[in-house]
Amino acid sequence: AAEPDLAGRRVVVTAGGTREAVDPVRFLGNRSSGRQGYALAATAVARGANVVLVSANADLADPAGAEVRRVGSAREMRDVVLAERANADAVVMAAAVADFRPATSAESKIKKGADQPATIELVENPDILAELTRERAHDHQVIVGFAAETDNVLEHGRAKLARKGCDLLVVNQVGEGRAFGTEDNQAVALGADGSAVDIPHGPKEDLADRVWDLVGGRLAVD
Ligand code: C5P
Repeated sequence: AAEPDLAGRRVVVTAGGTREAVDPVRFLGNRSSGRQGYALAATAVARGANVVLVSANADLADPAGAEVRRVGSAREMRDVVLAERANADAVVMAAAVADFRPATSAESKIKKGADQPATIELVENPDILAELTRERAHDHQVIVGFAAETDNVLEHGRAKLARKGCDLLVVNQVGEGRAFGTEDNQAVALGADGSAVDIPHGPKEDLADRVWDLVGGRLAVD
């Protein structure tokens, strides 16, 4: 069994991908399976933490011992995360949150023909991660973001870390069958302190454990 180094800690993890309604039966979504977030939740439970898993549209079994809160859209995720983060020691945003949503969601199914839209107008979603860091719930909260980049991973990662204001940004290299929907993951964890830790290719559980190692090292000692 894992060392209970997160015992007494409360962590919030997001997982999956949000769905943004176009009409009652259609949505804009993404290919996130939720596996990385579920692995983060399961490993945190194994290390003794109290875990709230905010899950968006993941077709996976609930991790034993975690409290699972299901959400659909980015705005639903925002509401739950903001409600749950208050007394959390760490918030790990592993979900793929849609940056945009349709400006309006039709009340009935869009039919072919007359009301067939030529374009779907998009509006920006709230950036939950940036919101968490803009007004922190408390000084010692560790806030972690995930990013998927296809090229210039370090450069784009550093810029995103600064933009989001988080303590750690775990940058996955995606494309060519990597990461999304696969069992394995490979990443570099960039710290606001300038650190960069390579996380070698391996199961998502191993990556999750490395993330909790880095989070654990940043938690307030009391
Ligand atoms: O900007 P990008 O989508 O690449 O950022 C990824 C990180 O930001 C992830 O941690 C994701 O959960 C978070 N995010 C968010 N709210 C958004 C978009 C992304 O919290 N609207």
